[in-house]
Amino acid sequence: MHIWAEYGTFFREFRRHFRDTGSVLPSGLFLARALTTELRKPRAPARILEVGPGTGSVTQQILRHLLPGDRFDAVELNGHFVALLQRRFDRDWEFRSRRSQVRLIHSAVEDLAGEAQYDFIISGLPFNNFPASLVREVFQVYDRLLRPGGTLSYYEYALVRQLKTPFVDRSERRRLFRVGRLVNRYIRAYQVRRERVLVNVPPAIVRHLKLKPATEFAPLARG
Ligand SMILES: C[S@@+](CC[C@H](N)C(=O)[O-])C[C@H]1O[C@@H](n2cnc3c(N)ncnc32)[C@H](O)[C@@H]1O
Repeated sequence: MHIWAEYGTFFREFRRHFRDTGSVLPSGLFLARALTTELRKPRAPARILEVGPGTGSVTQQILRHLLPGDRFDAVELNGHFVALLQRRFDRDWEFRSRRSQVRLIHSAVEDLAGEAQYDFIISGLPFNNFPASLVREVFQVYDRLLRPGGTLSYYEYALVRQLKTPFVDRSERRRLFRVGRLVNRYIRAYQVRRERVLVNVPPAIVRHLKLKPATEFAPLARG
Protein backbone atom coordinates (compact mmCIF):
# COMPACT_ATOMS: atom_id res chain seq x y z
CA MET A 1 0.00 0.00 0.00
CA HIS A 2 1.32 3.43 -0.86
CA ILE A 3 2.39 5.34 2.24
CA TRP A 4 0.46 8.53 1.35
CA ALA A 5 -2.75 6.59 0.74
CA GLU A 6 -2.27 4.94 4.14
CA TYR A 7 -1.61 8.28 5.87
CA GLY A 8 -4.60 9.87 4.07
CA THR A 9 -7.01 7.16 5.22
CA PHE A 10 -5.66 7.25 8.75
CA PHE A 11 -5.97 11.01 9.00
CA ARG A 12 -9.54 10.94 7.65
CA GLU A 13 -10.55 8.34 10.25
CA PHE A 14 -8.75 10.35 12.95
CA ARG A 15 -11.01 13.32 12.11
CA ARG A 16 -14.14 11.16 12.01
CA HIS A 17 -13.42 9.09 15.11
CA PHE A 18 -10.98 11.10 17.18
CA ARG A 19 -11.38 9.16 20.43
CA ASP A 20 -11.02 5.65 19.02
CA THR A 21 -8.36 6.40 16.38
CA GLY A 22 -6.23 8.28 18.88
CA SER A 23 -3.44 9.57 16.65
CA VAL A 24 -2.97 11.54 13.46
CA LEU A 25 -0.59 9.07 11.83
CA PRO A 26 -0.23 5.30 11.86
CA SER A 27 2.66 3.86 13.89
CA GLY A 28 6.06 4.20 12.27
CA LEU A 29 8.39 1.30 11.49
CA PHE A 30 10.44 1.55 14.72
CA LEU A 31 7.33 1.53 16.88
CA ALA A 32 5.82 -1.37 14.93
CA ARG A 33 9.07 -3.29 15.33
CA ALA A 34 9.25 -2.61 19.07
CA LEU A 35 5.70 -3.90 19.48
CA THR A 36 6.62 -7.21 17.87
CA THR A 37 9.91 -7.99 19.67
CA GLU A 38 8.27 -10.77 21.69
CA LEU A 39 7.31 -12.56 18.46
CA ARG A 40 10.92 -12.45 17.24
CA LYS A 41 12.23 -14.46 20.21
CA PRO A 42 12.65 -18.22 19.80
CA ARG A 43 9.19 -19.66 20.39
CA ALA A 44 6.72 -22.39 19.53
CA PRO A 45 3.77 -21.77 17.17
CA ALA A 46 1.28 -19.57 18.97
CA ARG A 47 -2.01 -17.72 18.85
CA ILE A 48 -1.65 -13.99 18.38
CA LEU A 49 -4.23 -11.21 18.70
CA GLU A 50 -3.74 -7.71 17.36
CA VAL A 51 -6.18 -5.15 18.74
CA GLY A 52 -6.86 -2.05 16.64
CA PRO A 53 -4.77 -2.76 13.52
CA GLY A 54 -5.93 0.46 11.80
CA THR A 55 -4.28 0.65 8.38
CA GLY A 56 -1.99 -2.29 9.16
CA SER A 57 1.46 -0.87 9.93
CA VAL A 58 1.90 -3.13 12.98
CA THR A 59 -0.01 -5.95 11.25
CA GLN A 60 2.65 -5.98 8.52
CA GLN A 61 5.40 -6.51 11.12
CA ILE A 62 3.40 -9.27 12.83
CA LEU A 63 2.94 -11.01 9.47
CA ARG A 64 6.70 -10.86 8.86
CA HIS A 65 7.33 -12.79 12.07
CA LEU A 66 4.58 -15.40 11.79
CA LEU A 67 5.80 -18.97 12.06
CA PRO A 68 4.15 -21.83 10.20
CA GLY A 69 1.51 -23.02 12.65
CA ASP A 70 0.84 -19.57 14.15
CA ARG A 71 -2.73 -18.32 14.11
CA PHE A 72 -3.27 -14.61 13.99
CA ASP A 73 -6.52 -12.73 14.73
CA ALA A 74 -6.83 -8.99 14.16
CA VAL A 75 -9.83 -7.24 15.74
CA GLU A 76 -10.79 -3.77 14.51
CA LEU A 77 -13.75 -1.60 15.48
CA ASN A 78 -13.76 0.80 12.51
CA GLY A 79 -15.43 -0.59 9.36
CA HIS A 80 -13.37 1.65 7.05
CA PHE A 81 -10.14 0.20 8.43
CA VAL A 82 -11.55 -3.33 8.17
CA ALA A 83 -12.39 -2.76 4.48
CA LEU A 84 -8.93 -1.32 3.83
CA LEU A 85 -7.23 -4.27 5.55
CA GLN A 86 -9.40 -6.67 3.59
CA ARG A 87 -8.10 -5.04 0.39
CA ARG A 88 -4.52 -5.35 1.65
CA PHE A 89 -5.08 -9.07 2.31
CA ASP A 90 -6.41 -9.41 -1.25
CA ARG A 91 -3.74 -7.35 -3.01
CA ASP A 92 -0.50 -6.75 -1.05
CA TRP A 93 1.88 -9.65 -1.48
CA GLU A 94 3.15 -9.64 2.15
CA PHE A 95 -0.42 -9.75 3.43
CA ARG A 96 -1.72 -12.23 0.86
CA SER A 97 1.05 -14.74 1.44
CA ARG A 98 -0.06 -15.25 5.10
CA ARG A 99 -3.80 -14.95 4.51
CA SER A 100 -4.60 -18.54 5.48
CA GLN A 101 -3.23 -17.96 9.00
CA VAL A 102 -5.22 -14.78 9.61
CA ARG A 103 -8.73 -13.97 10.79
CA LEU A 104 -9.87 -10.37 10.44
CA ILE A 105 -12.62 -9.60 12.95
CA HIS A 106 -14.83 -6.51 12.70
CA SER A 107 -15.73 -5.93 16.34
CA ALA A 108 -14.86 -4.12 19.54
CA VAL A 109 -12.30 -6.16 21.47
CA GLU A 110 -14.59 -5.97 24.51
CA ASP A 111 -17.06 -8.15 22.62
CA LEU A 112 -14.67 -11.02 21.88
CA ALA A 113 -15.75 -14.22 23.59
CA GLY A 114 -13.57 -16.88 25.15
CA GLU A 115 -10.90 -17.40 27.76
CA ALA A 116 -7.17 -18.09 27.68
CA GLN A 117 -7.06 -18.02 23.89
CA TYR A 118 -3.90 -16.08 23.07
CA ASP A 119 -0.17 -16.31 23.78
CA PHE A 120 0.44 -12.76 22.55
CA ILE A 121 -1.82 -9.71 22.51
CA ILE A 122 -0.47 -6.66 20.67
CA SER A 123 -2.65 -3.68 21.41
CA GLY A 124 -2.82 -0.41 19.50
CA LEU A 125 -5.65 1.06 21.56
CA PRO A 126 -5.28 4.72 22.58
CA PHE A 127 -5.94 4.26 26.31
CA ASN A 128 -5.26 7.92 27.05
CA ASN A 129 -8.32 8.88 24.98
CA PHE A 130 -10.68 6.45 26.70
CA PRO A 131 -12.83 6.83 29.81
CA ALA A 132 -11.21 5.07 32.78
CA SER A 133 -14.12 2.59 32.88
CA LEU A 134 -13.34 1.46 29.30
CA VAL A 135 -9.60 1.15 30.05
CA ARG A 136 -10.47 -1.04 33.05
CA GLU A 137 -12.79 -3.17 30.92
CA VAL A 138 -10.21 -3.61 28.15
CA PHE A 139 -7.50 -4.71 30.63
CA GLN A 140 -9.96 -7.20 32.12
CA VAL A 141 -10.69 -8.52 28.63
CA TYR A 142 -6.94 -8.86 27.91
CA ASP A 143 -6.56 -10.72 31.20
CA ARG A 144 -9.40 -13.06 30.22
CA LEU A 145 -8.09 -13.68 26.69
CA LEU A 146 -4.41 -14.23 27.56
CA ARG A 147 -3.11 -17.68 28.37
CA PRO A 148 -0.99 -18.12 31.50
CA GLY A 149 2.51 -16.93 30.64
CA GLY A 150 1.23 -14.95 27.64
CA THR A 151 2.38 -11.40 26.90
CA LEU A 152 0.48 -8.18 26.38
CA SER A 153 2.43 -5.58 24.38
CA TYR A 154 1.05 -2.06 24.00
CA TYR A 155 2.29 1.48 23.63
CA GLU A 156 1.53 4.95 24.85
CA TYR A 157 2.85 8.26 23.66
CA ALA A 158 5.58 9.54 25.99
CA LEU A 159 4.38 11.98 28.68
CA VAL A 160 1.04 12.50 26.97
CA ARG A 161 -0.98 12.70 30.20
CA GLN A 162 1.50 15.03 31.88
CA LEU A 163 1.66 17.33 28.83
CA LYS A 164 -2.11 17.49 28.39
CA THR A 165 -3.12 17.97 32.01
CA PRO A 166 -2.36 21.74 32.41
CA PHE A 167 -4.37 22.61 29.29
CA VAL A 168 -7.65 20.76 29.89
CA ASP A 169 -10.72 21.36 32.05
CA ARG A 170 -11.38 19.72 35.40
CA SER A 171 -13.38 16.74 34.21
CA GLU A 172 -10.78 15.92 31.56
CA ARG A 173 -8.02 16.26 34.18
CA ARG A 174 -9.91 13.85 36.40
CA ARG A 175 -10.30 11.39 33.51
CA LEU A 176 -6.57 11.54 32.68
CA PHE A 177 -5.69 11.07 36.35
CA ARG A 178 -7.94 8.00 36.62
CA VAL A 179 -6.60 6.46 33.41
CA GLY A 180 -3.02 7.08 34.59
CA ARG A 181 -3.69 5.55 38.00
CA LEU A 182 -5.26 2.46 36.49
CA VAL A 183 -2.60 1.89 33.84
CA ASN A 184 0.21 2.50 36.34
CA ARG A 185 -1.24 -0.14 38.63
CA TYR A 186 -0.97 -2.70 35.82
CA ILE A 187 2.53 -1.52 34.93
CA ARG A 188 3.77 -1.81 38.52
CA ALA A 189 2.28 -5.27 38.97
CA TYR A 190 2.97 -6.91 35.60
CA GLN A 191 5.47 -5.07 33.39
CA VAL A 192 8.44 -7.25 32.41
CA ARG A 193 10.13 -4.91 29.93
CA ARG A 194 9.72 -1.52 28.29
CA GLU A 195 11.28 0.14 25.26
CA ARG A 196 11.48 3.82 24.42
CA VAL A 197 10.86 4.57 20.75
CA LEU A 198 12.16 8.06 20.10
CA VAL A 199 12.01 7.78 16.32
CA ASN A 200 8.23 8.05 16.06
CA VAL A 201 5.78 10.93 15.78
CA PRO A 202 5.20 11.40 18.66
CA PRO A 203 7.85 9.42 20.61
CA ALA A 204 6.36 6.39 22.34
CA ILE A 205 6.95 3.84 25.09
CA VAL A 206 6.25 0.20 24.36
CA ARG A 207 5.37 -1.90 27.38
CA HIS A 208 5.40 -5.68 27.67
CA LEU A 209 3.30 -7.14 30.50
CA LYS A 210 2.79 -10.66 31.75
CA LEU A 211 -0.64 -10.52 33.32
CA LYS A 212 -0.53 -14.05 34.71
CA PRO A 213 2.38 -16.37 35.39
CA ALA A 214 3.03 -19.42 33.24
CA THR A 215 1.75 -22.60 34.81
CA GLU A 216 3.63 -25.84 34.55
CA PHE A 217 0.82 -27.49 32.63
CA ALA A 218 0.00 -24.67 30.23
CA PRO A 219 2.22 -25.06 27.15
CA LEU A 220 2.58 -21.84 25.18
CA ALA A 221 1.62 -23.40 21.89
CA ARG A 222 -1.74 -25.01 21.41
CA GLY A 223 -3.62 -25.41 18.19
C1 LIG B 1 -4.02 4.50 17.64
S1 LIG B 1 -4.85 3.59 16.38
C2 LIG B 1 -3.60 2.36 16.08
C3 LIG B 1 -3.62 1.83 14.68
C4 LIG B 1 -2.45 0.93 14.31
N1 LIG B 1 -2.31 -0.19 15.24
C5 LIG B 1 -1.15 1.72 14.31
O1 LIG B 1 -0.37 1.54 15.24
O2 LIG B 1 -0.94 2.47 13.36
C6 LIG B 1 -6.11 2.73 17.31
C7 LIG B 1 -6.91 1.72 16.55
O3 LIG B 1 -7.75 1.01 17.45
C8 LIG B 1 -9.05 0.87 16.90
N2 LIG B 1 -9.98 0.71 18.04
C9 LIG B 1 -10.37 1.65 18.92
N3 LIG B 1 -11.15 1.13 19.87
C10 LIG B 1 -11.25 -0.20 19.59
C11 LIG B 1 -11.92 -1.30 20.24
N4 LIG B 1 -12.64 -1.12 21.34
N5 LIG B 1 -11.80 -2.54 19.69
C12 LIG B 1 -11.05 -2.74 18.57
N6 LIG B 1 -10.41 -1.73 17.92
C13 LIG B 1 -10.50 -0.49 18.42
C14 LIG B 1 -9.24 2.16 16.11
O4 LIG B 1 -10.28 2.08 15.17
C15 LIG B 1 -7.86 2.32 15.49
O5 LIG B 1 -7.74 1.55 14.33
